[in-house]
Amino acid sequence: MINLSGDLALLVSAGAPSSFLSVARDVAAVFGVVGLAFLGRWLFRRARRARSGSDDRAAPQAAGRTEEKAVVEAFHKLYYHSQVWSDTYWLGVPTLKCPLDLWVYQEIIRETRPNVIVETGTAYGGSALFLACMCDLVGLGRVITIDIEEKTGRPVHNRITYLLGPSTSDEIVRRVVEAIGNDDRVMVILDSDHRRDHVLAELAVYSKLVTPGSYLIVEDTNIGHPVQPELVPGPREAVQEFLAANPDFTADRSRERFHLTFNPSGYLKKAERGGMQP
Ligand SMILES: C[S@@+](CC[C@H](N)C(=O)[O-])C[C@H]1O[C@@H](n2cnc3c(N)ncnc32)[C@H](O)[C@@H]1O
Repeated sequence: MINLSGDLALLVSAGAPSSFLSVARDVAAVFGVVGLAFLGRWLFRRARRARSGSDDRAAPQAAGRTEEKAVVEAFHKLYYHSQVWSDTYWLGVPTLKCPLDLWVYQEIIRETRPNVIVETGTAYGGSALFLACMCDLVGLGRVITIDIEEKTGRPVHNRITYLLGPSTSDEIVRRVVEAIGNDDRVMVILDSDHRRDHVLAELAVYSKLVTPGSYLIVEDTNIGHPVQPELVPGPREAVQEFLAANPDFTADRSRERFHLTFNPSGYLKKAERGGMQP
């Protein structure tokens, strides 16, 4: 603890120059006044809380949360409707994602270390390349990505396998299953046709491939919540239906801590073997 008056007395006895002493005295006075003001405010608030028997911090906190939600939602709409997500690149390849979600992908991959990442919906291959690069960085994993459309110029990477066809067709599902080994740790990302029934069909097939403790990510659950209400029912409604019938999966809301995500309630974690999610 600093003892300003004691320190000043020491300076005087040590013969410090008088101009320095006068500045030091002024500083000490300012510190004293500010300190007293803070102490007074704190005592006043304490007394008021004690008198009313309530915590006057609760109301501003609740108001703050509502305000925060409104700000996040407004920014979500601004970001989404600006279409900047379709003008976003990973190493020069169009990647139709919000970068904050890609950061979450990176965290999940480092934590869960999947050997196989299955992605439905390739588009230009930007997300597949991003995933392959994360696999490079953690030193394991391959990416199987599926699309009904062929596109030229998709990135070539030794960890990426492209499959052409509908994600829920028997042929594609058979090829994905065949590519997965018994000991592989599997993560799945659903990012193809975002209509509820298609997402539900994908969830039925691909949830079974996800390894306990690993993630099943349903992309674009922001459709209708809060953007593009005209496209409901979409992925969010599919997730709600799926979770109600599959208690071994839980939406991991901690993955939404950056406030903006295109996948609210879409980061689904499969319970570790022998246990349900808390
Ligand atoms: C949102 S884009 C994928 C974006 C990509 N994952 C990215 O982040 O850059 C959706 C893709 O899903 C594909 N698609 C639509 N229906 C599909 C289906 N039934 N099976 C597989 N792919 C499908 C479309 O051709 C389109 O390229």
